[in-house]
Amino acid sequence: MNNTTRNIDSDRYDRCIKASKRVRWDIDNDVIRGRTFDRSQKYLPDKLSLVHEFATLFESEKRFVSQIQGRTYANMFGLVERFINAKVLEVGRDHWFGDQVALEALVRFSDEELKHQEMFRRMNQMVGATLPAGYTFDVDPNAVAGAVLSKSTWAVLALTLQIELFTQLHYRQSIEPDGELSELFRDVFLYHWKEESQHAILDELEWRRNDAGLTTDERDRAVDEFIELIGAVDGILQAQAVSDASYFATNCGRAVDVKEVEAIKTAFLKAYRWQYIHSGASHPMFAKVLASLITEDQGKRIQAALASLR
Ligand SMILES: [Fe+2]
Ligand SMILES: [Fe+2]
Repeated sequence: MNNTTRNIDSDRYDRCIKASKRVRWDIDNDVIRGRTFDRSQKYLPDKLSLVHEFATLFESEKRFVSQIQGRTYANMFGLVERFINAKVLEVGRDHWFGDQVALEALVRFSDEELKHQEMFRRMNQMVGATLPAGYTFDVDPNAVAGAVLSKSTWAVLALTLQIELFTQLHYRQSIEPDGELSELFRDVFLYHWKEESQHAILDELEWRRNDAGLTTDERDRAVDEFIELIGAVDGILQAQAVSDASYFATNCGRAVDVKEVEAIKTAFLKAYRWQYIHSGASHPMFAKVLASLITEDQGKRIQAALASLR
């Protein structure tokens, strides 16, 4: 890395610190503000919950689906932010005796991610208080973090960048006009994105910095590990789609036959793959950064893996 590149990067870390200070928010005073969730409203916007895919359901049942997905959204972020924060702390180590501006930017990133985990734990409890008993999210964030962090830093940062970028798209979809969408959940998207936008910049900087130290073979293995991580995320989504479809069928207030449960499960899985895999993988910024680091053949391997999850 030459001096000019180093100066430009240092400037980008510095701008992240300034933006982080400017947008800093508090869970109670800014996001929750004494509000609660209301079952007469949707918790996730239609373009995230893919409500049109749940073709056999009545309107009120589609609203219930958005509420179940809202709870799963809180749990999924509680899950991914555990390994993201651990990786940020790990790569921050490289800056201990180097660029103190970069170190500060990553310390703030970590602090914000701890706050987000708390916010999503609160959201899970608050949404849970409005829904029937019996919902389960049977995944241990620490076990998942351990498995994810066993992969190379390149692969983990690739997965992390696409996650932090899709929060922007989720926020955009939440601000579309919809009088039935929960204002509180809207603010969760808004405030989360305000801090995630700095994280996405830092992910890219750290990913490029890591990439610059890899051999061609190491990068090729890292591409395979990234594909394995996407597969692992999909495994979690598949299990949750089964769990959420079964919870819906038990609590929707009418008899749902086996065939319809299967169709509902397929719709949940499609929505979850969109929310947690494809909305990030197809983000223009992710595609641009990824393409600048890999070969055409590696790109084809990633695209083939993504296409198998449709
Ligand atoms: Fe976050
Ligand atoms: Fe983040």
